[in-house]
Amino acid sequence: MTDDTTKRHVVLAYSGGLDTSVAIPWIREHYGAEVTALTVDVGQEGELEGALARARANGARDARLVDAKATFVTEFCFPALQANALYEGIYPLSTALARPLIARTLAETALSLGADAVGHGCTGKGNDQVRFDVAVHTLAPSLRVIAPVREWNMNRSDEIAYAREHHLQIRVTPESPYSVDENLWGRSIEGGRLEDASTSAPEEVFDWTSHPDSWPAEAESLTVRFHRGIPVALDGAALAPVELVRQMNRRAGRHGVGRIDHVEDRVVGIKSRETYECPGAVALVVAHQALEALVLPRDLLQFKASVDRRFSDLVYEGLWYSPLREALQSFVRSTQDVVTGEVVLRLHQGSCRAVARRSEYSLLSHELATYGTGSTFPQELAVGFIHLYGLPNQLAHARVEAARAAPEPTPDAPRPVLRTA
Ligand code: ARG
Repeated sequence: MTDDTTKRHVVLAYSGGLDTSVAIPWIREHYGAEVTALTVDVGQEGELEGALARARANGARDARLVDAKATFVTEFCFPALQANALYEGIYPLSTALARPLIARTLAETALSLGADAVGHGCTGKGNDQVRFDVAVHTLAPSLRVIAPVREWNMNRSDEIAYAREHHLQIRVTPESPYSVDENLWGRSIEGGRLEDASTSAPEEVFDWTSHPDSWPAEAESLTVRFHRGIPVALDGAALAPVELVRQMNRRAGRHGVGRIDHVEDRVVGIKSRETYECPGAVALVVAHQALEALVLPRDLLQFKASVDRRFSDLVYEGLWYSPLREALQSFVRSTQDVVTGEVVLRLHQGSCRAVARRSEYSLLSHELATYGTGSTFPQELAVGFIHLYGLPNQLAHARVEAARAAPEPTPDAPRPVLRTA
């Protein structure tokens, strides 16, 4: 912070929920600082404009909304899609991908306003604090990071009492007992009854995926066109990135695709039960993987899978702004020139499968693979190939058998000696 002669100024990442609403007067009180509330629109639902009016009413000197939806999809979600990014093989990293963008926007705003610090509403137990703090420290080391919820030790009813005492305008609808985070790439729901991993998630936590009782009886086909690993059209209609992801969420969500129920390993060493709804992301990863299987050679597919996994871990762990993430992303990008073509997905009763794929860069060769007439694969050479291919294994197996059959040496038996010339 600057010296006490200038008024301190914090740019707070503001969602409009209880935590960040209470944070505005709390920061003014405890840090003697002015607060600018900043809402970054990454496609979360809800009335963002109303939230800004409440921020001003609750003492923010200013409240701003930045529309970052297109940046979010093109700079964060699509590179993750090219890496088939799924943390622990299951979570498309929706929350994790938005944090570095929100942090960057916070830092840029704070620097442009000459503020001393940025603030966020994360607790001290989760991944999100790590992602925010590391990103801000990396991009703007001169800024302090303030995390009121991590410092104040208030529970939910303390916060409501604080809001009453300070005559704060908070949302009148009863707050859900769950902690929800939303953006175009997915919806994360945690806390409340979900903390008990031994019971199934109550239906009320889901919003983007329809109830199993209303899943359509009929399967639906959906054709996704990719250009260089980026989805560009659905069922033949070209769509801009944000609209494409929105439509994927709607169409896959209707069939219940993308519900995820997972015991996850957090950066801070805690395991926790997490539920997600990521219908669009899950369906797009299925389609992208199906197209890669068609156009990438085996060795590249296998190697890329290890890069994809490392990329996913880095994103989860809050290291978006790292040289390693950039380098891995460049590698992934370099594999995508041939990932152009179409995949037909079948959405049905909670599942999403690729059922057809086509590409001008396909490595499928009918003349080589067919069992019908016209095959050009020289089968007679297979015998020689197999003989040489299996030879090292034949030899190694024989040696292992011999070693296992050999008697244990007796203590006084002469030991073989290696002679030097
Ligand atoms: N566990 C997920 C992650 O680390 C989701 C966190 C969701 N945050 C929330 N406020 N509900 O990315």
